[in-house]
Amino acid sequence: MNELIKAIEKLKKEKNAVILAHYYQQGEIQDIADFVGDSLALAQWAAKTDADIIVMCGVHFMGETAKILCPAKKVLVPDMEAGCSLADSCPSDRFTAFVEQHPDHTVISYVNTTAAVKAVTDVVVTSTNARQIVESFPAGEKIIFGPDRNLGNYINSITGREMKLWDGACHVHEQFSVEKIVALKKEHPDALVLAHPECKSTILALADVIGSTAALLKAAIQSEKKEFIVATESGILHEMQKKCPEKVFIPAPPNDSTCACNECSFMRLNTLEKLYNCLKDESPEIVVDQAVAQKAIRPIERMLEISAQLGL
Ligand code: 13P
Ligand code: SF4
Repeated sequence: MNELIKAIEKLKKEKNAVILAHYYQQGEIQDIADFVGDSLALAQWAAKTDADIIVMCGVHFMGETAKILCPAKKVLVPDMEAGCSLADSCPSDRFTAFVEQHPDHTVISYVNTTAAVKAVTDVVVTSTNARQIVESFPAGEKIIFGPDRNLGNYINSITGREMKLWDGACHVHEQFSVEKIVALKKEHPDALVLAHPECKSTILALADVIGSTAALLKAAIQSEKKEFIVATESGILHEMQKKCPEKVFIPAPPNDSTCACNECSFMRLNTLEKLYNCLKDESPEIVVDQAVAQKAIRPIERMLEISAQLGL
């Protein structure tokens, strides 16, 4: 075993820490993590761990969500700069003003938001439970959904709801090219197209399966098909390939073939070395303003309760 990995394992035991990693992390971080999962699973694990320290190998809002759920624990992130373009597309002051303009609306926010946005939210969702949580409200319920316009449009289209959408998006999921996926489908006619609902509707129209990272992984495992074109951040291919070594996974290409735009630059800021340093120094640590956290915990817990009732 490599020395750095051994050192991380040692520190983890000494400090009673748990390492949680999102599917978009580099493969070597996923491999050393105690749990690898999607945004919902990361929140669920954070809520139930008895570790003293949670190292969240993901992006800032995931660390914030864990800290809000576990205020007495130390929550570390390997790189404090690991933000999220989608969360950034929804500044809390502008979102709060939008909410105040619609006082008769229920506010549903995607977990990819800051704590301050969650503080003015009624219920948080992830891509795993968004449909079911929206459908748990009566058909006539007036709803604001933010910040992802693509996920919001997709949920409106499958539920028949007319939620008012915040106009935000993720820079990775907006980049996929229809033309290049169509060309790939011609080259691989038997391949199944798997797409995350943060992709534009033109990409979703080409997809055989639309779902969260966990749902796409499950579809890849359960499908009889041998080839898959995957339209989400390419980090998920690591776990897909691990679970299905005999299958072929092709990352959907972005519009600009000179960039690695199907990689989330924020997620990729975390490295094994930074993970080691953050465990050693117990820094950088996530801090959430207490007054904000007290308001933000309610919609997160509501999401966890509804998810538990739904068996998610
Ligand atoms: P899920 O983890 O819900 O699949 O969402 C993907 C994502 O963009 C996380 O930032
Ligand atoms: Fe945010 Fe997009 Fe990166 Fe997910 S992939 S963390 S939504 S920027």
